[in-house]
Amino acid sequence: MSKPFLSVERLTQSFPDGAGGTLTVFENASFGIEKGEFVCILGHSGCGKSTIMNVLAGLAEPTSGVVKMDGMGVSGPSLDRGVVFQNYSLLPWLSALKNVTFGVKARYRDWSRDKVVDHATRYLAMVGLEGDVIHRKPSQLSGGMRQRVSIARAFANQPKLLLLDEPFGALDALTRGTIQEELLRVWSKTEQTVFMITHDIDEAILLADRILLMTNGPFARIAESVEITIPRPRVRTEIVEHPNYYAIRNHLVQFLGKRSKELAGRASDGASQSPAPVRIDLTAPAEDPEPGPQTGPESGREPRAHLKAVNG
Ligand SMILES: Nc1ncnc2c1ncn2[C@@H]1O[C@H](COP(=O)(O)OP(=O)(O)OP(=O)(O)O)[C@@H](O)[C@H]1O
Ligand SMILES: [Mg+2]
Repeated sequence: MSKPFLSVERLTQSFPDGAGGTLTVFENASFGIEKGEFVCILGHSGCGKSTIMNVLAGLAEPTSGVVKMDGMGVSGPSLDRGVVFQNYSLLPWLSALKNVTFGVKARYRDWSRDKVVDHATRYLAMVGLEGDVIHRKPSQLSGGMRQRVSIARAFANQPKLLLLDEPFGALDALTRGTIQEELLRVWSKTEQTVFMITHDIDEAILLADRILLMTNGPFARIAESVEITIPRPRVRTEIVEHPNYYAIRNHLVQFLGKRSKELAGRASDGASQSPAPVRIDLTAPAEDPEPGPQTGPESGREPRAHLKAVNG
């Protein structure tokens, strides 16, 4: 099989634990992301999600292991990788528009001023910011508007990889819902590769092609990669009607509620730790049973759940 667009190979991160010892956050974690994929990562607080993302962004050096994007090793920050943090991180002295044009100018140095402004204005419009509001400074915008500017800014730079660390964590549920749909719209138009951290299971199902499930730390593992077998385009109010929605949701809830603890705290003994692929599809026609044990969260129900878990 060819290498994925983003390939994380045997990533290990340890920190001094403050008491003279070492805290191993994760060890030998390996996974890949395909070009254009939208991948979410779910796991309890402190398991190491932001640590992984900082390494992918080139903002932190791992203890060992490599990250390759398009076959090239990642080291140091780059305009090819855009990051959106939970706390907006807009430049407070610039207007919303200038916060976006700032990065676009740096990325496309040969573009005329008009082209830069047109481009930035188009991305702001995609997240619902149009007219006078784009000339306001961050302090004159609501939290939701600020986060829209952050998203427009990240997408407008057209990075090869977009990294989002709980971008909607501070928003109320209504604003969050609207911005999730705007994010989906921008993503579907741009076909960028996205890696996003979230604590919200429903948000992950709405947005992701695949959800990576992380166990608790220390020695956290990305234990599973769950495919979201719900067709796009997805609309929040409609996907809950899809037969796979609650089957997938229950699997995620079970993992976070129970298995993330049971699987926690085991050293890798030098082995590469890849997530087991999991596919739950209640709409697939029942196949002839294959030799060997079949696992399924709903076994005995018709149509039967196809849950494939291959330990890698
Ligand atoms: N620079 C650092 N020095 C020492 N320990 C660190 C450092 N950065 C992170 N850690 C530790 O690594 C572990 C993982 O932290 P991380 O921020 O990646 O968690 P997280 O999964 O993003 O949590 P949350 O969901 O709360 O944001 C934590 O125990 C944290 O204390
Ligand atoms: Mg974090």
